[in-house]
Amino acid sequence: MSGTYVVRTFGCQMNEHDSERIAGLLEADGLAPGDDVETADVVVLNTCCIRENADNRLYGTLGHLKSLKDRRPELEIVVAGCLAQKDQDSIAQRAPHVDVVMGTHNVHRAVDLLHERRRGDQPVVEILSETVAEDHELFPSALPVVRQAGYAGWVTIQMGCDNSCAFCIVPAVRGPEISRPFADIVAEVHRAALDGVTEVTLLGQNVNSYGRDLTLRARADSDAVDADFLLGDAAAAAAQADPEANVRVRPLFADLLRAVGSVPGIQRVRYTSPHPKDLRPETIEAMASVPAVCEHLHLPLQSGSDTILSAMHRGYTAERYLQRLADARRGIDDLAVTTDIIVGFPGETDADAEATLEVAAEARFDGAFTFVYSPRPGTEAAELVERFVPREVAAARMERLRAVVERSSRLGNLARVGRVEEVLVVGPSRKDPSRLTGRTRQNRLVHFEPDGAVRPGSYVQVEVVDATTTHLRGVMRELLFAPTHRVRIPVAAE
Ligand code: 5AD
Ligand code: SF4
Repeated sequence: MSGTYVVRTFGCQMNEHDSERIAGLLEADGLAPGDDVETADVVVLNTCCIRENADNRLYGTLGHLKSLKDRRPELEIVVAGCLAQKDQDSIAQRAPHVDVVMGTHNVHRAVDLLHERRRGDQPVVEILSETVAEDHELFPSALPVVRQAGYAGWVTIQMGCDNSCAFCIVPAVRGPEISRPFADIVAEVHRAALDGVTEVTLLGQNVNSYGRDLTLRARADSDAVDADFLLGDAAAAAAQADPEANVRVRPLFADLLRAVGSVPGIQRVRYTSPHPKDLRPETIEAMASVPAVCEHLHLPLQSGSDTILSAMHRGYTAERYLQRLADARRGIDDLAVTTDIIVGFPGETDADAEATLEVAAEARFDGAFTFVYSPRPGTEAAELVERFVPREVAAARMERLRAVVERSSRLGNLARVGRVEEVLVVGPSRKDPSRLTGRTRQNRLVHFEPDGAVRPGSYVQVEVVDATTTHLRGVMRELLFAPTHRVRIPVAAE
């Protein structure tokens, strides 16, 4: 193929990462990154369906692409990702100008499907119902990649989710939990480091249960599978020492943090997201003792009311959550904590909403993604129509929650004033290009005055002189590390 492509990503980091793989495949097939949707030959929309507004945005964007395609019939439109997985045939019916519709389990097929489309005269729809897990080559992370930023890499460690939170559509569109073999992950991080990546983010829906399926597989079929490959050296040795007991409880995620954190060249390791019910002491211990693992924990609370947590099937109480958080703060020096909270889950009363405010205040979150509950067809909570919370009530609760979170995030940021922080430079600040923007190890956003020319991907010391609710302001004191690799930004993010 020749010409240019643009990938637009909606939704989470898992999707961002799939987009990098789709971009990698398109480039391997001869396409070059394009500047914008208006001129590109191939436009890929990688979709999200976690909340309802994502649907609306997709159909809005498709409407715009229709007018482009009327003018340029050679334009090819691909819809990939979670919404495609959920809506399947109906996307092609609602938007017949789409050329290819593909789901979440066949990222590796992007180019083949485009070729198939060119051979026929009908849109091509391919939605697989399961991950092609047996063939580990096809894990999205095993495909060629075009990284959004050369110095930062996402690494999928696990696909799908085995939980059944009543509000969540992820298990339906991403399938059951499947862990990627330990040695594969570590090998990918080594390769990424050789490419110039210094910060990796391990991705999974429920990272703390990483490896559960692998240990069971290794136990069930110890002759047929290579335990070293599936589990990594440490866990495989434990399995050999005590095949009956140890292998099942082996804290593989903690082992993984250690292994990834010791890859030469990797300066920062992040991960998202752990489930509060599975946050283990071993993980906290690994975060505390592996220098590369950043002091940041994203621990989704969802609600502070035990009644609502139980209706959501979250598997913990507010008290248990706060205990785990206290353990994490005690174990890890200088830990920043962020969270996800849903407001207006069906049946949420004023007292439930109040409980969430209290827990949020006690947790002193450094940041929170807050969402108004959005019914997703096919999920358990979407059936509870008669208990839906009126929109205005949810909006008012949201406003109060935001005020609580903003207070603790402002205090958290203000507490950094006067300190010198290690900052990974992202690029010029959008508002004031004479300043640079970056992230501290705690993942706080920093705008600072540079000292000379500093490239994205550099690590610098910044003295924090001021702070707001959303960011720190500072002055650069020292360059710690300059990247040796070229940085490119070919994937258009939202
Ligand atoms: N409505 C609102 N928010 C949701 N989330 C997941 N499903 C829904 C929904 N139906 C939020 C949760 C999750 C985050 C990624 O999105 O807080 O942690
Ligand atoms: Fe959804 Fe719950 Fe799984 Fe997270 S843990 S992906 S919220 S079902």
